Amino acid sequence: FSRGELSGKSVVITAGPTREAIDPVRYISNHSSGKMGYALAQAAIEAGANVTLISGPTNLAPPQRCHFVSINSAQEMYDAAMSSLSDCDLFIASAAVADYRPASAAEQKIKKTGQDTMSIELVKNPDIVTAVAASRPRPMTVGFAAETQDVISYARDKLTRKKLDVVIANDVSQTGIGFNSDDNAVTVVWADREEALAQRSKAQLGRELIQRLADQLNNS
Ligand code: PMT
Repeated sequence: FSRGELSGKSVVITAGPTREAIDPVRYISNHSSGKMGYALAQAAIEAGANVTLISGPTNLAPPQRCHFVSINSAQEMYDAAMSSLSDCDLFIASAAVADYRPASAAEQKIKKTGQDTMSIELVKNPDIVTAVAASRPRPMTVGFAAETQDVISYARDKLTRKKLDVVIANDVSQTGIGFNSDDNAVTVVWADREEALAQRSKAQLGRELIQRLADQLNNS
């Protein structure tokens, strides 16, 4: 796409998993590799944006020429996202954020007991993309929907409930796309329409998604 479509714009992207501590050596997490979010960050940089990438732990090298913020937990990602909002034009939430965290993280390693079962009480994490969409002034706010069934209807539900401008839906039950693969296939969902982008590399998809989001931002 033509270079500079996002020149002068500030873009904030969340990527990767979060880690929710159980004790000093254990955590709850998920299979997000960060590849989708890093591809979006790379494409936004190439389109001329000032990019802040807020990332959970991944094996990826941060793209050059971005402001990289490394976090572990959902609460840390929330704090980083909230402090990145001044001047933010476009916020893209591609991170797989843990919805719940252990109610308290043990200070010392939890020891094995004689019991056969053990429970961990979980409490809700803040919803980052919902908080961004409710902030004023509000950036154009884009969420992802990772679903294993009824992908489009759950994505539409997220669009309305979280008050987002766009939801990018992916079916994470299919092998070869979604979590931790090099490819993805998505349906981009707006209030009045949707567009399916069949399987392709996350790098290519990142460019095509950024192009659509830049067009929308520049025409709003
Ligand atoms: O990282 P990869 O291996 O490349 O995989 C990419 C991906 C599958 C992780 C990515 O394409 C994706 O779908 N990301 C969203 C995963 C997810 O957690 O979806 P969700 O349906 O649970 O959440 C919906 C939206 O709310 C997402 O934009 C999420 O970032 C956001 N959210 C969720 C919970 C929370 N506490 N705060 C949030 O901001």
